Amino acid sequence: MISDTESLYTSLPFDQSSSFKQLNTLAEAAPDLAELFRQHPLRGQMFCSHIDGLTLDYSKQRLDDKILKTLIQMAEERQLPEKIKHLFTGQPVNHSEQRAALHTALRTPEQAGPDHLQPDDSRILPEVHRQLDKMAGLVDRIQSGIWRGCTGRKITDVVNLGVGGSDLGPLMVTHALREYAQTSALKVHFASTIDGSQLFELLSHLNAETTLFIVSSKSFTTIDTLSNADTVRAWLRQFCHNDALMYRCHFIGVSASAEKMTQWGIPIENQLHFWSWVGGRFSLWSAIGLPIALALGMKTFRALLLGAHKMDCHFSQAPLDNNIPVLMALCGIWNVNFLKIHAHAILPYDGRLKFFPSYLEQLEMESNGKSVLQSGEAISYETCPVLWGEVGANAQHAFYQLLHQGTHAVASDFILAARRYDSIQGSAHYASMLAQHELNISNCLAQSRVLAFGNHAVEPSDNPYRHYPGNQPSSTLLLDHLNPESLGALIAAYEHKVYAQAVIWGINPFDQWGVELGKIVALQLQPALSGAVAENDSPNHLDSSTQALSRQISQ
Ligand code: F6P
Repeated sequence: MISDTESLYTSLPFDQSSSFKQLNTLAEAAPDLAELFRQHPLRGQMFCSHIDGLTLDYSKQRLDDKILKTLIQMAEERQLPEKIKHLFTGQPVNHSEQRAALHTALRTPEQAGPDHLQPDDSRILPEVHRQLDKMAGLVDRIQSGIWRGCTGRKITDVVNLGVGGSDLGPLMVTHALREYAQTSALKVHFASTIDGSQLFELLSHLNAETTLFIVSSKSFTTIDTLSNADTVRAWLRQFCHNDALMYRCHFIGVSASAEKMTQWGIPIENQLHFWSWVGGRFSLWSAIGLPIALALGMKTFRALLLGAHKMDCHFSQAPLDNNIPVLMALCGIWNVNFLKIHAHAILPYDGRLKFFPSYLEQLEMESNGKSVLQSGEAISYETCPVLWGEVGANAQHAFYQLLHQGTHAVASDFILAARRYDSIQGSAHYASMLAQHELNISNCLAQSRVLAFGNHAVEPSDNPYRHYPGNQPSSTLLLDHLNPESLGALIAAYEHKVYAQAVIWGINPFDQWGVELGKIVALQLQPALSGAVAENDSPNHLDSSTQALSRQISQ
């Protein structure tokens, strides 16, 4: 453990370091992308980093050797290598909550060799694997039909009730890897919204006798999830008149609070635990991943963990100038703080990654959308950009107009799998599917090219309506295949990018105080809206807009 928590802070503020000043000067004369490619015909090969099955091409970022070297120097000045060790060994990197962030331990093999960075606390890995085994046991009982509903019928449907990190990761992975499902017997659904709209639709066609609900909440206090769980409990009680039987046959709880799960009614044998040192948005590797394992099988879930572990090894061992998450982080910092590009589009050219942008929105913006240092002092430079995205080829017909001809500079990540549809080789529609895949690839490569070079990608145009200025930076993440291992590595790369950026900015990526006030105010408003407050006690202290809206709603 670090004895002096002060060493968590990097002494000199980020914007006062010598490399920051140098980078500012370099940014004033930053070359454009067409010029950078003219200077180095082999730039595409030079500004690239690989690990097994995954390549980062950052050659279309607006930086050259000198800028890259200065960015690396800045990462060293910010003690990034030491901070990476702190993360893996379980130092209290989440300073405001005084705890570690050990999501990497969740995917460390039990017998990991001494060359792998591991938590200093030797109890952690055995405990992680004990829960993983308990989860495997539950998955086996449910998938094999040993687990029965309260009337003795097999489970056919599972609904995950969770929100934020207890929803987005499992939803994204389950959708992305459907082709890798080892059994198609179970249908897995997700309900997250507090308004109950997803449940309303699901409960209208699900059979209570054969449906199992996972109440997934790290804190087990999140009102969104608990209100969905309460609705489900009321729905189940129509069919199952014995509460103890209902809880035993129709609910599994996943949380860091065993006590709260028990209070709610979930029996101990139906509880899976994880730990306060797993951040919600970093939790899909824990028992929060249960819907993934139920939908796709434990083998697929373990392959996902393995892929993430390989990225962990790369992040903790590769030199900074050939380290994929570090390079992603540095490109982001160069864009945000020096080129003043404050929007970042996530563009997977793969329908299977439909939910990847919303997953990353939480991962990046909830982690690094911060304006105070670890120490609590206000900062005077930009941190996380605004992230959004969509499946790339669909987004071409939606918001790409703005990327190409709008007034904002936008950085983009293109994500693409090189090979697809091997599994249907020999089928009647294989050639046609392959042609679609090639079309998709050419669209992806065409878009990053036009964003970088504008009209010069083809020929200059005098027509102002057809003018494409280009010079919009992007990176391309190329997977050989989208499979459990490569997806695990891809997600872990973004997790580590977030951490590396937070270290450089001097902020805490593992807390989220910014979401608390809204929850408190919603709780204050609810009685007024539900009529629990007498007319003459109406909340006159509210602003006139909120008053008028609530009056109109209550009429
Ligand atoms: O409100 C934000 C948040 O705390 C996220 O960080 C978290 O992923 C989500 O709510 C759900 O929290 P829980 O898993 O505790 O229900």
